[in-house]
Amino acid sequence: MAKRPYQPKDYFFRKAKEEGLRARSAFKIDEIARRFTIFKKGQTVIDLGAAPGGFLQIILNEVGPTGHVVGVDLAAIKSLGRPNVKTAVMDVLADDFAKQLEALHPGPVDVVVSDLAPKTTGVKDVDEARSLRLAGIALDVARVRGVQGGHFIAKLFMGGDFEQFRTDLRALFSDVKVVRPEATRGASMEIYLVGLKKR
Ligand SMILES: C[S@@+](CC[C@H](N)C(=O)[O-])C[C@H]1O[C@@H](n2cnc3c(N)ncnc32)[C@H](O)[C@@H]1O
Repeated sequence: MAKRPYQPKDYFFRKAKEEGLRARSAFKIDEIARRFTIFKKGQTVIDLGAAPGGFLQIILNEVGPTGHVVGVDLAAIKSLGRPNVKTAVMDVLADDFAKQLEALHPGPVDVVVSDLAPKTTGVKDVDEARSLRLAGIALDVARVRGVQGGHFIAKLFMGGDFEQFRTDLRALFSDVKVVRPEATRGASMEIYLVGLKKR
């Protein structure tokens, strides 16, 4: 099948507007969530790299009013108008990030989601390495805070040490999937790694 050309105002962009979603990326988490039955009502979910909040809108719906959702990003996230979501401006690369996150929302976490993406330089190796580092931080959060049986989703730029990351994930989760959601732009190198059922 021919690759879809990059069109800024494509189908998913328009659909997101129509459905009141903040970002077209919302359809990616929606697809992954449905395929692997990631979320349940009442869960606690941490979303890293959450601005402007497209993933958060979907996650909030999935976990319902009894769930707890935490979103952090370098950029501020506009209020989602729900009492059960906390957002904060944080740099996941900060030395004390784990402490900051714990202070924002302590306790066990059912699902860790990361859509973290570095500012791209155009230098493939550099961009891949930065993307991998961000995904590695998300995996650390899942390792330390994730409950047994919990799940993990992280975006990664394909290439570089992808295989090593998948191996690390397999050590921590019973099942690991690689997904390229439909809403991914045609030319994008990004994929999502999904870790199911933390050991
Ligand atoms: C693709 S966007 C996320 C879109 C989001 N999932 C949504 O649905 O609205 C990637 C995000 O990663 C964030 N990011 C990149 N590096 C970061 C860092 N070191 N700390 C926190 N956030 C970071 C960016 O600010 C950007 O908002």
